[in-house]
Parts: sequence; structure tokens; C-alpha cells
Amino acid sequence: MIPTTLRDASIESIKADLLVLPVQEKNLEEPALRSLDRRLRGKLREHIRLGKFTGAEGTTLLYPTTGMLPSPHLLLVGMGDPKELETDTWRKAAARARKEASAVSAQQIAFWFAPAKDAEKAAGAIIEGMGLASYQFNKYRSNSKPPAEVKNLTLFKSGLKQTAAIKQSIDEAQAALPGVFLARDLINEPPSITTARFLGQQAQRHCHGRGLSVEVWGKNKIAAMNLAGLLAVNRGSLEEPRFIKIHYKPATKARKKIALIGKGITFDSGGLSLKPAKSMETMKLDMSGGAAVIGAMSRLPHLDLDLEVIGYIPTTDNLPGGNAQKPGDVIRYLNGKTIEVLNTDAEGRLILADALALAAKEKPDTMINLATLTGACMVALGRDVAGLFSNHRPLADHLMQCARETGEKLWPLPLIKEYREEIKSSIADMKNIGGSHGGAIIAALILQEFVNEVPWAHLDIAGPAFADKDTALCPKGGTGFGVRTLLRFLSTV
Ligand code: BES
Ligand code: MN
Ligand code: ZN
Repeated sequence: MIPTTLRDASIESIKADLLVLPVQEKNLEEPALRSLDRRLRGKLREHIRLGKFTGAEGTTLLYPTTGMLPSPHLLLVGMGDPKELETDTWRKAAARARKEASAVSAQQIAFWFAPAKDAEKAAGAIIEGMGLASYQFNKYRSNSKPPAEVKNLTLFKSGLKQTAAIKQSIDEAQAALPGVFLARDLINEPPSITTARFLGQQAQRHCHGRGLSVEVWGKNKIAAMNLAGLLAVNRGSLEEPRFIKIHYKPATKARKKIALIGKGITFDSGGLSLKPAKSMETMKLDMSGGAAVIGAMSRLPHLDLDLEVIGYIPTTDNLPGGNAQKPGDVIRYLNGKTIEVLNTDAEGRLILADALALAAKEKPDTMINLATLTGACMVALGRDVAGLFSNHRPLADHLMQCARETGEKLWPLPLIKEYREEIKSSIADMKNIGGSHGGAIIAALILQEFVNEVPWAHLDIAGPAFADKDTALCPKGGTGFGVRTLLRFLSTV
């Protein structure tokens, strides 16, 4: 956590190790920049010209002030076209500033804070950006050194006043970060460490505090509860499955009951319908939905919400051991429905069906599930965007709004009822795969069979759960996608 203060100060007078000035594209005449340049006797302009800095988004320009300003380093951060500026632009700008601060070992950062609108959202986003950018997973490196620590951050401008809304936005951003880091850690951990048992232990370890309790069910209880999909997928494994249930109860009467469900496949080999080696490389990511639910729930004691929230995470690996389920097997679910398993690699829907049916029995006001469910969703929307399916338009709209604010990209995909034809089975109620097109929709339709009439949203996070390269906000690996959007949703529902 970076201690943050807001200050009424001018850009010439502020003193920090690194002074950060956001610059909009082709807006190099803005007063703050002009007045700095005057102080630096025109040298800054010259440096901008030589560095061909235009303020384009994603670019930065570092300038050593050589004693001419109280702060030794000045960093210009490109904000891009003002017409395209959104909350996430602030988040990424702050993330880039955090990286540069590390490069020059700056411990104190002063950030010129003059957003044209939504100051409170920009403030929260800057805190998040600085925080998210500092994440590293170095546990398995022998030569790592921790990133230079930022001791404090000052948001400043002449006449800047701290408002209650700004303070709350900053507090909310700070509160969410450990949940994101927890999710990232759980995903990045090697799959032989993150077993179902380990995930259960981690949920117990991190989900505690006011109002929060955790149950971890072992194989016997899972069988007693008729979680047939989880047992079927687990059959090919030597590791036992777990079903994790995390419960948050507020001190006062709950206004609503929300169920969060996360896919917890700790490693997806495909089972007997084995994946090719290349596709397996990153399949430790397949518990990212579960990790997001654990990460988000772990922060609830800090948020003081008048909601009851229940997290459900069915977890196992998907392996092709001697006793593995076989294509052609049929699973009978607790709501009476049956699924013929024709491809054991379509396992996420099999374990989510249990969890959705179980959650629906408790009649929540809303159910949201997160799952790295289909490669097809990545084909449709690319790596950065999660698919959003819902049987309830207001819920989908609300989630879209939350996602816009957190910068975690969601896009709606349709539940085409005509495609139910594709999952007709010759011996059971449905089969677990369809034809060769629209795979993300087919998977969502199967999930829908288990939610009854409860307002429900399904986030297919196969793309954004795992970054295939370093980005401003996250190094290569687990991203913790969903944690911030879930928390935002819970604070605004
Ligand atoms: N976990 C995978 C989906 C996935 C793929 C997530 C790539 C992240 C990156 C899921 O269990 C799976 O294997 N889905 C199959 C479904 C198919 C067999 C109908 C897929 O997408 O190929
Ligand atoms: Mn699979
Ligand atoms: Zn999977």
C-alpha cells in the first residue's frame, strides 16, 4: 500500500524524487508545461522536441532537472487523445510512472493531478495503477531483487482540495489491491503446488475476518452433496477434489444475496481428450475464475457492505489417469439433469453445472460466474476481452458499467436459444459439446441449464485471465482479472 496525500501546491514548488506530469497528445502548450519550461529555461521544450515526445498514449519522457527544480526527475506521461481519455488512461499512466520511478529509484512521487472530469475516479485509478504495476512473482527466481519501494505518493495541483468522494475512491482502490495480488499469486504458482487441497487451504488462510467464513468440502462431502460433475472430472486424478464455499454475512441485515462462482481447474490437460503439448503450457491458469472469487471475497471484511455474498469454487485438476471419465460417459446432476460427456476437455462446464445448481437452490438475487471456459471466446474477442453472457439485461448493463470503470474489458455475447439444437444428445438431456462454431455460446448455453430463473451472468475470462507478455499493469502471467470488477459490482449493486 502506498501512503497517499492530496496537496494544494504549484508544479514549480513541489519537491519529490520524481515529479510526474500527464500530458495530453499534441497539447504541449498547456499552462503547467509552459510554466515548467520557463523554469527550465526552454530546455524542456528542446528535450521534448529531440525525444519526439507528442503525448501519445503509452509514451513517457524522463528529464533530469539538474537542480533547476526542487524535484530531481521530471517525467512526462503521454495521455493520448483527450477525446479518448477514460478512467483506465489514468490507471495506465500511473503504472508507467511507477515503472519509471523504479528505474530512477524514486521513493517519493508527486503526480500533477488535474483531471478534466471525474476527479474521484481518476484518483482511485492512479492509486490502482501504481499498485498493480508493482506486482512481481519472484518466488522461483534465484536472482530477483524486489522493486524499489515507493514510500509515498502526492497528488497535487494549485488549489486542489481533498473531497470525501476522492478519499473514498482512493480507499476503495487500496482495499482491492491485495485481492488482485492474491489471485495473481494463486494463478502463477506451479500447478503441482496449486492443487485443489492447496486452493482450499489458501481460501481458509486468506478469507477470514469480520463476517467471513470458509468451508472446504472433501471427497466424501462432495459425494454426499451429489456434486457429480466435480467427481466425474476428478476421476482421472490422484489428487482429491475440493469444493470451497466462502460465506460473507454482514453485521446488519443483508439487503441482497449474491452468489459468486469460480472455475477451479488447477490444471487442464484435457483428460482423455488430451490437449496438444503447446496448449497445455499455460493450463495452470484454469483456476483463474476461482482465484478471482477467492481474491474478491478475501477483501469483503474491509468493505462494510450490507450484502450477503457466497462464493462457490469447485476445484480439481483434469487428468487422464486410469480411472478417468471417458467420452460417452453420462453424468447425472443434483437437479436431475444429465450430460453426456463427449469431450473430456470441455470439463469446466461439467464442474460449474454442480456449483450453479447448488447456488441456485439458495435463491440468491444474483449469480455471477467466472471461468476460463473456452478457447472460442478468445477467437471471438481476443486476449484482452472477456465474454459476458447473461439472462438478465440490467445485470449485464451494470457489469458493463463496472468493467468500464475498472478497465477490465467485458463485451456482451448472446445466448442464442436456437443453438440448443447443437447440444442435443442421443441418450441424455444434453451433451457437453456442440459443433465446430460458436463454442463460447454453446458452453454458456450449457451453464444456463443449471441457473433456473436466477438473474445470472457468466464471464468467460479465457483470454484476459493470463497475460502472454508484460503489460503496464501486469507482468506476464496471471492477471487477477475480475477481482476489481466484482468488488466494484458489490459496492454498487
Ligand atoms: N480451459 C479450457 C479453455 C481455455 C483455452 C482457457 C485456452 C484458456 C486458454 C477449457 O477447459 C477447454 O479446454 N475448452 C475447450 C472446449 C472444447 C473441447 C469444446 C476449448 O476451448 O477448446
Ligand atoms: Mn478443458
Ligand atoms: Zn478448462
